[in-house]
Amino acid sequence: MDRILEAIMSAENAADPARALAGVAGLDVPESYLGVAVRADEVSMFDGQATRDKDPRKSLHVQEVPTPELGPGEALIAVMASAINYNTVWTSIFEPMSTFGFLQRYGKLSTLTRRHDLPYHVVGSDAAGVVLRVGAGVTKWQPGDQVVAHCLSVELEDAAGHDDTMLDPQQRIWGFETNFGGLAQLAIVKTNQLMPKPAHLTWEEAAAPGLVNSTAYRQLVSRHGADMKQGDVVLIWGASGGLGSYATQMALNGGAIPVCVVSSPEKADLCKRMGAELVIDRTAEAYRFWKDDNTQDPAEWKRLGARIRELTGGEDPDIVFEHPGRETFGASVFVAKRGGTIVTCASTSGFEHQYDNRYLWMHLKRIVGSHFANYHEAWQANRLIDLGLVHPTLSKTFPMEQTGQATYEVHRNAHQGKVGVLCLAPEEGLGVRDPEKRARHSEAINRFRGV
Ligand SMILES: NC(=O)c1ccc[n+]([C@@H]2O[C@H](COP(=O)([O-])OP(=O)(O)OC[C@H]3O[C@@H](n4cnc5c(N)ncnc54)[C@H](OP(=O)(O)O)[C@@H]3O)[C@@H](O)[C@H]2O)c1
Repeated sequence: MDRILEAIMSAENAADPARALAGVAGLDVPESYLGVAVRADEVSMFDGQATRDKDPRKSLHVQEVPTPELGPGEALIAVMASAINYNTVWTSIFEPMSTFGFLQRYGKLSTLTRRHDLPYHVVGSDAAGVVLRVGAGVTKWQPGDQVVAHCLSVELEDAAGHDDTMLDPQQRIWGFETNFGGLAQLAIVKTNQLMPKPAHLTWEEAAAPGLVNSTAYRQLVSRHGADMKQGDVVLIWGASGGLGSYATQMALNGGAIPVCVVSSPEKADLCKRMGAELVIDRTAEAYRFWKDDNTQDPAEWKRLGARIRELTGGEDPDIVFEHPGRETFGASVFVAKRGGTIVTCASTSGFEHQYDNRYLWMHLKRIVGSHFANYHEAWQANRLIDLGLVHPTLSKTFPMEQTGQATYEVHRNAHQGKVGVLCLAPEEGLGVRDPEKRARHSEAINRFRGV
């Protein structure tokens, strides 16, 4: 591993980094590597505890694992940096179910996928790094390429996936429903997960947007999601969080009017730094959408709606960007404009939603389900980062040994934007290959990162 890192570091100040990196093709691949994993014999460790009390620091282990064999159409990448996604929170607390069930199911598909069914699960759905090897049949990528990986794994053997790859019946999220994820020194991806690393970003900045940026792109911008247009009022829950901080930028870039919901003045500040003007602090407003576990309070939905109108000059949201789920969904359906769209990709606070259907049908609203993004959408989202039209919202970076702590902070909602993890990168700030472009965007990058 040392020789691989040495080769990558030699590109830091090289006149021709691409040439320096091509040398990785001649290096031996180590037989094992360090990865962040949960263990099959620990899936019951939190039984009986409340969700909030389940501690990722206890279940995520940094451990040595054997390097898997490389299959056709795959790439082995040296991971310089990765990021925490909420799916690693779910994996680490074994909710709503243990991810070992996903690995077992995937393992039954073919002799190649059988590799994934192991008593440990190396997690992580983001990565920025360098391609070390490519498998048989790969023509577009080669050793030495500096890449970021999106997390859509598809087999594409069924016709259903060939219009929109998210509809492939064998669609999986890499590092969550597959093994060999990005929170590790090495990772295995399909080469149709690879995208060029934006040259003006550090490794940890480049790794941060991936999953959430692509998801927000499909959910808000793509025709498969809310198909946002200029002037749309967009209510964005968790607007300073992983998904929300990218949705806010896309709303502003697309000429829409984001109404950002956050839970503290610090989080409101990030929204304002990104350029949003209309921000609601849900803690200060003390909304109580539920009177008790089974009863919602429409008066509170109305209070939220009135606040939105107050901020927008009387308009209701054309689009509600939903992911908190049970806690907010009734309010989201209520406040959406007549004919508006509630687009949802998650249920952080509970997946059994309740809403008053009269507000949906009588006011001709629609609920759209959205999940990650196809390769084209992920590519478009990465292109926005590359063009400097969307910036990473990386607020904090941890060494890989502290991935448990990093995940704990996301679980406890004590973070802003994205939380990064250094894998092979020995320190922050490495990997910028285009200093001029960096200089052009550095003010905005620092502002969005809060540094
Ligand atoms: N389907 C997909 O492809 C996909 C992709 C990415 C993420 N997800 C899911 O989407 C969810 C959010 O992911 P993320 O990366 O954005 O997480 P995140 O970084 O934790 O941000 C979510 C934000 O939502 C807000 N929030 C949390 N609970 C809430 C509640 N009960 N009521 C109102 N707001 C609440 C919080 O902001 P404030 O406290 O500031 O309000 C939080 O910062 C997770 O469940 C994740 O698994 C799904």
